[in-house]
Amino acid sequence: MPINNRIAALAENIKPIRHDLHMHPELLYDVERTAGVVAQKLRDYGCDEVVTGIGRTGVVGVIKGRKGSSGKVIGLRADMDALPILEATGLPHASQTPGKMHACGHDGHTAMLLGAASYLAETRNFDGTAVVIFQPAEEGGAGGRAMVEDGLMERFGIAEVYGMHNAPGLPIGAFATRKGPIMAATDSFDILIEGRGGHAAKPHETIDPIVVGSQMVSALQSIVSRNVDPLDSCVVSVTAFNAGNTHNVIPQSAMLLGTIRTLKSETRVFAQKRLREIAEGIANAHQAKVTISLKDGYPVTANHDQQTDFAVKVAREVAGTDRVMPNMEPVMGAEDFSYMLLARPGAFVFVGNGDSAGLHHPAYEFNDDALPVGMSYWAKLVETAMPA
Ligand code: NI
Repeated sequence: MPINNRIAALAENIKPIRHDLHMHPELLYDVERTAGVVAQKLRDYGCDEVVTGIGRTGVVGVIKGRKGSSGKVIGLRADMDALPILEATGLPHASQTPGKMHACGHDGHTAMLLGAASYLAETRNFDGTAVVIFQPAEEGGAGGRAMVEDGLMERFGIAEVYGMHNAPGLPIGAFATRKGPIMAATDSFDILIEGRGGHAAKPHETIDPIVVGSQMVSALQSIVSRNVDPLDSCVVSVTAFNAGNTHNVIPQSAMLLGTIRTLKSETRVFAQKRLREIAEGIANAHQAKVTISLKDGYPVTANHDQQTDFAVKVAREVAGTDRVMPNMEPVMGAEDFSYMLLARPGAFVFVGNGDSAGLHHPAYEFNDDALPVGMSYWAKLVETAMPA
């Protein structure tokens, strides 16, 4: 392109939609209003088919190109859900629901994909089918998996799937991605330590779960520093330590909560195994009882080589060669687009949000200047993958 006049003009129509979504944030699968707005807009734009209720509250729009001969089908995905955060931007279009906020820019992702759908349905300058996917529950509810399990890929014949997330700190108009693992697998753990409570003046008669837990917190650091290859990536963080409530009592139990993040499935399995061994070993050494519960979160978001090369090519045409990072460092956050990449080949890219507050911060705001950039990427991707 870069950004053509039609997309620049459409972006002005899309901005108020983004602000409307921002004012009405909804959480997880409870995105009825948002999904309703999305479905209505897709119908207004003249999509050939609009299907609601996929993966509970997901929405899909189908746009056929002018020539329908190639039979190729490309999926483009956005997420619709917000976060349980009290917004502190003070903007005119700030959240009207205290305690809920679009603090990850999913309002922007939804708006950019709506804008692209509007352009593609109007111009149809491609040979094949574009499927626009709007998923619920990215923030911890695995809405992407719910849509895949609901038959998303088979039902619409999707051959390849692409995703995009905004990135604070990356300049407006820039893109970044990488082949292979781009975001981490994230698993959570709960460690319940049961000791023997008693009088703080008679520690010899107790099994102190705070001492046991403290040693565990220290020892768990050795998974990353002494067990995982230093050239591999792993995070093990204890994020909560709850025990006791006064000065003169040794409590009966302690609870540790935390997260494990990895970029390889072998490392994921290995770190979970070491966590169990270390926690059980330390509990045994102190005659405490330990109950460990590990929960698998989102898997690694792993880009496919060929589709990543293609995404980079498209991004370069939109942004210019020097504004695209084709080999960024992976991020230890997680994404449930990972489930779509397990189902079909594809690529996930980051689009610059400029110098904004960070994601999930109460002062975060999606930058409207990124709207035409993301819209152009989606449009160009469809027109290049399925040339008319
Ligand atoms: Ni997000």
